[in-house]
Amino acid sequence: MKIVVIGGTGLIGSKTVAILRQGGHEVVAGSPESGINTITGEGLKEAMASAQVAIDLANSPSFDDKAVLEFFETSGRNLFAAEAAAGVRHHVALSIVGIDRTDNGYFRAKVAQEKLIGASGVPYTIVRATQFMEFLGGIADSSADGNIVRLPPVQFQPIAADDVAPIVAAVALAAPRNGIVEIAGPERAPFNEIVACYLKAIGDPREVVRDPEARYWGGQVEEHSLVPLGEAHLGRISLDEWQRRARSR
Ligand SMILES: NC(=O)c1ccc[n+]([C@@H]2O[C@H](COP(=O)([O-])OP(=O)(O)OC[C@H]3O[C@@H](n4cnc5c(N)ncnc54)[C@H](OP(=O)(O)O)[C@@H]3O)[C@@H](O)[C@H]2O)c1
Repeated sequence: MKIVVIGGTGLIGSKTVAILRQGGHEVVAGSPESGINTITGEGLKEAMASAQVAIDLANSPSFDDKAVLEFFETSGRNLFAAEAAAGVRHHVALSIVGIDRTDNGYFRAKVAQEKLIGASGVPYTIVRATQFMEFLGGIADSSADGNIVRLPPVQFQPIAADDVAPIVAAVALAAPRNGIVEIAGPERAPFNEIVACYLKAIGDPREVVRDPEARYWGGQVEEHSLVPLGEAHLGRISLDEWQRRARSR
């Protein structure tokens, strides 16, 4: 099967491309450097020709509220024009658990991306994942004021990229659901405790303070804002196991 992976050089994209190639599929790994750009439209028509599946794993280079919204809207419009013209039969995209339950600029942009998917007419499956374990450092940095990291004690359930990619690949090979699949890591615990544990394990001296008023990327979060509310597919890699693997690399 011919599969186009947009963002095929990224964290999840590169792992997904490797899994699909191992499975014997013809995979185009799209990124601006390889001449496939969802913002300018460059290379999209050629990449999509005779492709059955398109997987969107691209991310905005800027997380500024306006830039990220423009990225996902423009990217979605260009992608669907090319996919519809080529007769792509399944569009898969990676989104985030709880984007419609918490208000921040990045989540608003992902909601806009999901709306375009639903309106595109291309059969689709949206995979909503919780935060990647690889993103814990970025979260700590975004919540830090000097040596203090303030985080709310809300439920948190991060997932490793090595769990996300095989699920995305399997979803892409299955029939479109025209709906959402939620995925999360195997362990749920208070947000502040997980980040504290991560920082301790990597020898980062910053102190994590439990602060019920602390926001997540500027948005207010409640007890279950960031975790799946219903049935979710769970990854197998615990935070301990992920850290063990990271140390041995
Ligand atoms: N971080 C999280 O915790 C989390 C949780 C759930 C879902 N997600 C979603 O998961 C998806 C993948 O995230 P990631 O961390 O794997 O991303 P990433 O590592 O930042 O990779 C982004 C990819 O997008 C490509 N890209 C950027 N601009 C592009 C353009 N104009 N046209 C085509 N490709 C472009 C990049 O190419 P270059 O290599 O050339 O830059 C790269 O391959 C995102 O949609 C994100 O919203 C993230």
